[in-house]
Amino acid sequence: MRVIKLVLISLVVGSAVFISACSNTNQNSVAVNTTVVTENTNNLTTEASTIQEETSTQVETTIVKETEKVVEETMNKEQVEMTNETTNETESIGVNNMETNNILVAYFSATGTTKRVAEKIAELTNAELYEIVPLNPYSDADLNWNDNNSRSTKEMDDKNVRPEIGSSDIDLTNYTTIYLGYPIWWGDAPRIMSTFVEKYNFDGKKVIPFCTSGGSGIGHSGSNLASLAKTGNWANGERLNSSADTNSIQNFINSNN
Ligand SMILES: Cc1cc2nc3c(=O)[nH]c(=O)nc-3n(C[C@H](O)[C@H](O)[C@H](O)COP(=O)(O)O)c2cc1C
Repeated sequence: MRVIKLVLISLVVGSAVFISACSNTNQNSVAVNTTVVTENTNNLTTEASTIQEETSTQVETTIVKETEKVVEETMNKEQVEMTNETTNETESIGVNNMETNNILVAYFSATGTTKRVAEKIAELTNAELYEIVPLNPYSDADLNWNDNNSRSTKEMDDKNVRPEIGSSDIDLTNYTTIYLGYPIWWGDAPRIMSTFVEKYNFDGKKVIPFCTSGGSGIGHSGSNLASLAKTGNWANGERLNSSADTNSIQNFINSNN
């Protein structure tokens, strides 16, 4: 009986030792496994970051390249367009200079009304434009016709005044028809028009005066200029309303053809 008891105790104690040993081993192995998993997770995170970095670098590079391509294409397109525009301009100047209809529209305009009409005539006749610009521009005060001492009033009071022209000289050689535009000042052409017509030779050229005004007709302004010019075949000319439309300007052109 004692022996059996001893055997039983041994068995119980042995089992306990064995179970305890097993339990320790499992705990260690779980700890080891956790460490491995943590390491793996760290490695994966690092790899994921690397891939992310590489991908964004690639995406950035692609975007930069695409943007550069688009910019280059746009610039090339703009350059082609600019070249075309330049070519067209050159062609149109070439046409006017070479086989041109040899028409010039020369004008003086203090406040822009005559300029608008001149531009319309040039457009409809495919003519070249020349602006007679005063060397000393007219200020608002200069143009005040209510002031007896304003520059314009004084100039119009004296037929011999010749305001200087500031725009570069023009070679009239190749022009056969010249439209000559100006505003009416005190019933006549401004004195700077006298400067212009006395400066150039209109021999063999057809000169067609036109004016704009607040209401006065062209009067003797055209014939006065013709007398000062002494050369050229002068038409009677016409006053064109400041709001003259394309039709009335076209009629004026047709009636002088
Ligand atoms: C000094 C001066 C005198 C003017 N005299 C007359 C005139 O006698 N009769 C008239 O109808 N308009 C007269 N005007 C008005 C202009 O002829 C008219 O506004 C013209 O269309 C202006 O042309 P512009 O804008 O090309 O300078 C006069 C204008 C100025 C500044």
